[in-house]
Amino acid sequence: LICIFYFVTEFDIHNVKFYSYKELRIATEDFSPANKIGEGGFGSVYKGRLKDGKIAAIKVLSAESRQGVREFVTEIKVISEIEHENLVKLYGCCVEDKHRILVYNYLENNSLAQTLLGSGCSNIQFNWKTRSKICIGIARGLAFLHEEVRPYIVHRDIKASNILLDRDLTPKISDFGLAKLIPANMTHVSTRVAGTIGYLAPEYAIRGQLTRKADIYGFGVLLMEIVSGRCNTNTRLPIGEQYLLEQAWDLYERRELVGLVDTFLNGDFDAEEACRFLMVGLLCTQDNPKLRPSMSSVVKMLTGEKDVEEKKITKPGLISDFLDLKVRRPEKTNPEPKYTSSYNASTGSNNLDNSTLSSGTSTSATMTFSASYNDQSV
Ligand SMILES: Nc1ncnc2c1ncn2[C@@H]1O[C@H](COP(=O)(O)OP(=O)(O)OP(=O)(O)O)[C@@H](O)[C@H]1O
Ligand SMILES: [Mg+2]
Repeated sequence: LICIFYFVTEFDIHNVKFYSYKELRIATEDFSPANKIGEGGFGSVYKGRLKDGKIAAIKVLSAESRQGVREFVTEIKVISEIEHENLVKLYGCCVEDKHRILVYNYLENNSLAQTLLGSGCSNIQFNWKTRSKICIGIARGLAFLHEEVRPYIVHRDIKASNILLDRDLTPKISDFGLAKLIPANMTHVSTRVAGTIGYLAPEYAIRGQLTRKADIYGFGVLLMEIVSGRCNTNTRLPIGEQYLLEQAWDLYERRELVGLVDTFLNGDFDAEEACRFLMVGLLCTQDNPKLRPSMSSVVKMLTGEKDVEEKKITKPGLISDFLDLKVRRPEKTNPEPKYTSSYNASTGSNNLDNSTLSSGTSTSATMTFSASYNDQSV
């Protein structure tokens, strides 16, 4: 009893729920492949039914993650206490022996990467109203992390696979606070960057400057993906259309931004609102981080409470400019429909652009990123 008391006071873990490894093993039927719903840079995710009947997403952090109990629990406590309609709820965790497992609320409708930007097997109808609601929801969730939570949280990995959808298509940001759980020397980051590169603010990718402005850049990219229904990079498209951000800037300069809106909507959308969203996306991805608006301003611009000052938009920061990623085109590719990405079912990751990422230049990006990862200036 004294021991437990010591543990509780030492870590101040009153609000953290601990699951036994046994319970999670039963919940997932011994982590059976049939219950596996995805795999990301941090490890595998399983669907499972907990003792109390709740369905959970159970994220088993990979073996390299041998963070000490104290650090792990400290971070878990921070994440557990965060509640917002647009953030995935962490139920609790398991820290037994070398196991480090996170237990989350399970979201029925998968991620934006697999549905809106996925390979077309989703039944969800992303009409304009739904997209608008999703964009505003994500902005609110991120504004909460950036401006309400104390100390504030930089997500570091805003991207379509980290936006999960509830039964009623309410968007929920997942994986916030996670980067701190992984020891800085862990190499998974370099593989993870593969799925993330198009969302990386240049100052983060190149100089390791990680601030809220890097998240805002990632959000801007995501916003454009949601409005256009396509991934930020797709080398299977004709030159000039491969990079969403470049295309958006080009159309903006020609005053034809509306041309970027997903043709799948068949003209059935609020053009004024869609263009406003795209302009907010451009504001968020400006090269100079200082010019990017805060997330609370972004929310106001999206909802129309605040005007978008069109004249103020400057050129986006394009990572391709630095990394010379524009050159390659895969040698043998089957033509794909314009608005689909090649979702990789085996890894659960949404990255279309393997050709680009296997190039020499992307290796240097990875190295820069990994090095900068240690420099966590949050
Ligand atoms: N709470 C959840 N509810 C339902 N599905 C989830 C949940 N969390 C994760 N998933 C599924 O598991 C997949 C893998 O998630 P994971 O976070 O491990 O990888 P990722 O988001 O693709 O990459 P990263 O590791 O960079 O976040 C997700 O794409 C999603 O389909
Ligand atoms: Mg994720």
